[in-house]
Amino acid sequence: MTNTPSLFHRPALAIRLANQVLVVSAGSAASSGVFLAAPRRTGKSTFIREDLRPALLAQGAVVVYADLWANPTAEPGSVIVNAIRAALASNEGVMLRLAKSVGMDKLQLGAMSFDMDRIGLGSDVSLSEALVALSDETGKVIVLVIDEAQHAITSEAGIAALFALKAARDELNSSSHHGLRVVCTGSNRDKLAMLRNSKDQAFFGAPMVNFPVLGREYIDWFCEKVNLPFALDPEQIWPIFIEAGHRPELLGAAADLIRFDFEVDAETGPQLFISHVRHLAAEMNQVLLSVIHSLTPIQSAVLRVMAACEPEYAPFEAATLEKYRQALMRAGIPEAEAKADIPGVQQALIALQDKKLVWRAARGVYAVEEKNIVDLLKAEGLIEQN
Ligand SMILES: Nc1ncnc2c1ncn2[C@@H]1O[C@H](COP(=O)(O)OP(=O)(O)OP(=O)(O)O)[C@@H](O)[C@H]1O
Ligand SMILES: [Mg+2]
Repeated sequence: MTNTPSLFHRPALAIRLANQVLVVSAGSAASSGVFLAAPRRTGKSTFIREDLRPALLAQGAVVVYADLWANPTAEPGSVIVNAIRAALASNEGVMLRLAKSVGMDKLQLGAMSFDMDRIGLGSDVSLSEALVALSDETGKVIVLVIDEAQHAITSEAGIAALFALKAARDELNSSSHHGLRVVCTGSNRDKLAMLRNSKDQAFFGAPMVNFPVLGREYIDWFCEKVNLPFALDPEQIWPIFIEAGHRPELLGAAADLIRFDFEVDAETGPQLFISHVRHLAAEMNQVLLSVIHSLTPIQSAVLRVMAACEPEYAPFEAATLEKYRQALMRAGIPEAEAKADIPGVQQALIALQDKKLVWRAARGVYAVEEKNIVDLLKAEGLIEQN
């Protein structure tokens, strides 16, 4: 592990966000939930776990946290259900209520404790009933935080879980209970937006907030704590942090490289640190670029057209097929061979998903996996004009 100081906290931001989540003013759609979006590796999960969760708890909320990315093979719907089950299981009074609701009496409950499998989608106890029991027993507002929430719409069970949550939210936010707020985070605005843009989505109209990335205060803190044989000047480090996409790991990794370099001195140190950060950032892009450059012509054309058309990308429409053809020709494929048909495009989309360049929602909507990929395509002059 790195010796870099552990964590920079943002308590003021956490309190402000917690207030926004908990206090819903009349007519505000915020009771639908709040969406926080920021690029990859900029500290979303860390902030939620280390700063926002404590702030919500301090304001008297029950916090349920579900990370849909912690285990990429886990089905998103069951991750949400399990997080809720775990919150219920930690409260005996709630378990008793639930047991009663399915006809078990106190004695039975003592003998053969209530089976958690009975709670969930299509089970005896719906998510809504379970959350109502938790709300009534604790008398507290419940905040469900779903990290990387866009994964919920990659499976039918995930979509079902979102609908169940919508029902639960409507019930708990009625005057007879204590409220349910849902906070969703994700790294891709377009994907997150799919959870809230259409009326049949569970969080229609929920506000999308640009989650603030780590700022200048983080850099002051980092330079003070980094503990290298020489001092780093925040004035110099701040611009390089912006250039590196506000990703703390790159600074940490550059500091580690310097720690193992015994030749470095106070004179050359800061400049070397900066060039390490640049180099590490370029290296990350290089990996991605080599994946992009190893695509087949049709895969590359599909990716480039998708990046150019988002968010209105319609993979199989005639006009889009024509765009692939144009993209193939621009990449040097002779006109006679520049063909894009539906089975070919389908195959290309599957391959692009396997390479983690493209993401597919359960209902056949596609998006480029990360904004970084689009930026890189632009920088390389590879994006097709509409
Ligand atoms: N406040 C902080 N202080 C110090 N280091 C941080 C802070 N926030 C994040 N980091 C570091 O940055 C890296 C990325 O953090 P984190 O996983 O929270 O980001 P993320 O935006 O959730 O990433 P992903 O897009 O992969 O979900 C981690 O190595 C973490 O230790
Ligand atoms: Mg994260």
